[in-house]
Amino acid sequence: MSITKNSQPADPAPLKRFRVWVANRQQSFTVTSDQSLLAAMEQSGAQAIDVGCRCGGCGRCRIQVLHGQYESKRMSRAHVSEHDEAQGLVLACRILARSDLVIESDQFQDPRQATVEPNNNNEECKQ
Ligand code: FES
Repeated sequence: MSITKNSQPADPAPLKRFRVWVANRQQSFTVTSDQSLLAAMEQSGAQAIDVGCRCGGCGRCRIQVLHGQYESKRMSRAHVSEHDEAQGLVLACRILARSDLVIESDQFQDPRQATVEPNNNNEECKQ
């Protein structure tokens, strides 16, 4: 009996594209299944969600998901409690769309967070 191993890497799952409608800003953009909502919004040139650290650490990109399916990466409980998350309040930089979405932006917890500058070097971004 012999065992053969397939040395070819598995084909990556094909990317899917979804539409994100930001109801309170009357804007939409397209996101692929491997992008965070925030990254897709920035790539599209839309200005529908406020941008901060891009890493889940500042809470500036908090949104309310009204309709649709998504997958969440780890989020700071300082900005999104378990109760918030159960209600669809999430960080746009930490979720991946799994269907078309309808969201509302401007869900800040603390207006003092408006001074946070974008940061691409945060270790939390790599998780
Ligand atoms: S941009 Fe800072 S938490 Fe998303």
